[in-house]
Amino acid sequence: MKEFKRYMVTSALPYANGPVHIGHLAGVYIPSDIYVRYLRLKGKDVLWVCGSDEHGVPITLKAKKEGKHPQEIVDKYHEIIKKSFKDLGISFDIYHRTSAKIHHETAAGIFKTIHDKNGFIEKTTEQYYDPEARQFLADRYITGTCPHCGYEKAYGDQCEKCGTSLSATELINPKSTISGAKPELKPTKHWFLPLDTYEPFLKKWILEEHKEWKPNVYGQCKSWIDQGLQPRAVSRDLDWGVPVPVENAEGKVLYVWFDAPIGYISATKALTPDWEKYWKDKDTKLVHFIGKDNIVFHCIIFPSMLKAEGSYILPDNVPANEFLNLEGDKISTSRNWAVWLHEYLEEFPGKQDVLRYVLTANAPETKDNDFTWKDFQARNNNELVAILGNFVNRAIVLTGKYFDGLVPERINPDEADTAVLNEISEIRQKVEHSIENFRFREAMKEAMNLARLGNKYLAETEPWKLIKTDEDKVKTILNIALQISASLSIVLEPFLPFTAEKIRKILAIDKIVWDDLGNHDLLKAGHKIGKAELLFAKIEDKEIEYQVNKLLATKEQNKEESHEPVKDEISYDDFMKMDIRSGVILEAEKVPKTKKLLKLKVDTGVDQRTIVSGIAEYFKPEEIIGKQVSLLLNLAPRKIRGIQSQGMILMAEDKNGKLYFVAPQENIKPGALIK
Ligand code: MF3
Ligand code: ZN
Repeated sequence: MKEFKRYMVTSALPYANGPVHIGHLAGVYIPSDIYVRYLRLKGKDVLWVCGSDEHGVPITLKAKKEGKHPQEIVDKYHEIIKKSFKDLGISFDIYHRTSAKIHHETAAGIFKTIHDKNGFIEKTTEQYYDPEARQFLADRYITGTCPHCGYEKAYGDQCEKCGTSLSATELINPKSTISGAKPELKPTKHWFLPLDTYEPFLKKWILEEHKEWKPNVYGQCKSWIDQGLQPRAVSRDLDWGVPVPVENAEGKVLYVWFDAPIGYISATKALTPDWEKYWKDKDTKLVHFIGKDNIVFHCIIFPSMLKAEGSYILPDNVPANEFLNLEGDKISTSRNWAVWLHEYLEEFPGKQDVLRYVLTANAPETKDNDFTWKDFQARNNNELVAILGNFVNRAIVLTGKYFDGLVPERINPDEADTAVLNEISEIRQKVEHSIENFRFREAMKEAMNLARLGNKYLAETEPWKLIKTDEDKVKTILNIALQISASLSIVLEPFLPFTAEKIRKILAIDKIVWDDLGNHDLLKAGHKIGKAELLFAKIEDKEIEYQVNKLLATKEQNKEESHEPVKDEISYDDFMKMDIRSGVILEAEKVPKTKKLLKLKVDTGVDQRTIVSGIAEYFKPEEIIGKQVSLLLNLAPRKIRGIQSQGMILMAEDKNGKLYFVAPQENIKPGALIK
């Protein structure tokens, strides 16, 4: 493997149109924080940048909906996101933003360079235009009926009901969301990056030279390349974004996916005047942390842009994760199905590391994974409290009790003692190997094994019993337990920085480096340590119930708001074919051996007939005799459980499947036509 002189690490820029949730954290920000904290501890030259992605249509749409300027929206969420990251200990070197001047200049500069090299093709295509608002409409600004499922509020790029991705021209009855007007097709000019011409380069660079990339990343790239790449528009007709920096480009901005990744570069510029060596020197290892929906942009489009520009390095790796689900359901901002970071931090003060731990233990590294509150509680109580907290606490409490908080000496350690100490180096190697290969859950598990080892050691040697008979042995045991605790404060630093720091404070250690791992005298005999403090507290059932109930309430809310798609249009004649009339139930009895069926005798005004109806779960036969109903009379007769059923009783059904009679509000004679 190539040795690099320095590292440039980036994490996907979150859209500044909403707060950050656990899916973002597990997929991108916690893994990259672990990676960078580790590199820093190793003394590597590393820069880590992130920031808010503040352009793009969803932001302008949200602004429009709330009657605000897009800048107000991004200002609000930029602050919320920035603060919540900081409070979780996400240790970016800079959290920048793409509405900043330096970003606009950098993005425009890169566009200009490519443009001047004839790196774009200009093409005129037909796009929807709002004649009233006098502007071109991004796909998200157009709604209409989904041609696949009939949902009436599908967007020009996607139907959120059936999930199909659409192009705006496919929508039935398209409407501009700005004015409500019917959009018209009008020609407009845009700049395209000819991705097809980068195919040979991408094939060689990814498919041949980066076979070590994660299978999900490599696989997606391969399938994109195999399908054949097309020129891709890098500008849009929009009034929010980086203006296209060439002549005759009024009303055009850079496509958000063109400018956003350049945000990594502008953030580095804002951080240090020395930025170029991190972006242009072949000895820099560039690593992009992203979620799986960002793969094509970071592996195909952005590298092609950089290649076109000509002076930048390309990523050495793009460790993309899969998605995290919440309680078995896809996380969704629009359905509010999420655990929001800023809310978590308020509701679980001081428990940053618990969330970091659980999200790392369940990180969706190779497949989608699920977050559940029960698992959150169990991992806290059974692992953090019972293993890590318990071990460190015992080592410190016993040292305080037997030796006044002075680290005792090791006196003639036996084979078992030495074996325990030697294990530290082995664990270190495993953690290093896993982190360097972006396998953070495995890495954390190995790190926790050191606490497990310590616990087992104390349980086997029982210093609290030995103290009466063999004080020297107890000195050795507690010395080793304290060396393990000190080592934990190093090996856990990338994963649980708050806890690691707390341990160091108690042990009165001020500086650590990764290479101290494996040093058996991190704490010298005679060193004075402080008093024990609880590292983790048990999480009670009621705290978990509160969270689960919060989610249940969201589910209910969503159910209320959702509705069945509207059925296909029918003609008046179609409607008039149905013979619907009022009637009265004369007799009712259960159909034997069925749960749902009642056999009814009904007065239709025309005749008395038998109808079998699936309403027995909601109505007792004796309750509905004499009830006025609406009947579909001319439904073809059907045999149900051997009974000839002639017609149908009309019922309304709510979200929970509960049934209600639908009938004229006042009593009228059976046989009145309903139309
Ligand atoms: N905002 C995008 C998302 O949330 C990610 C942008 S990453 C960048 O999916 F590279 F473009 F910055
Ligand atoms: Zn649909």
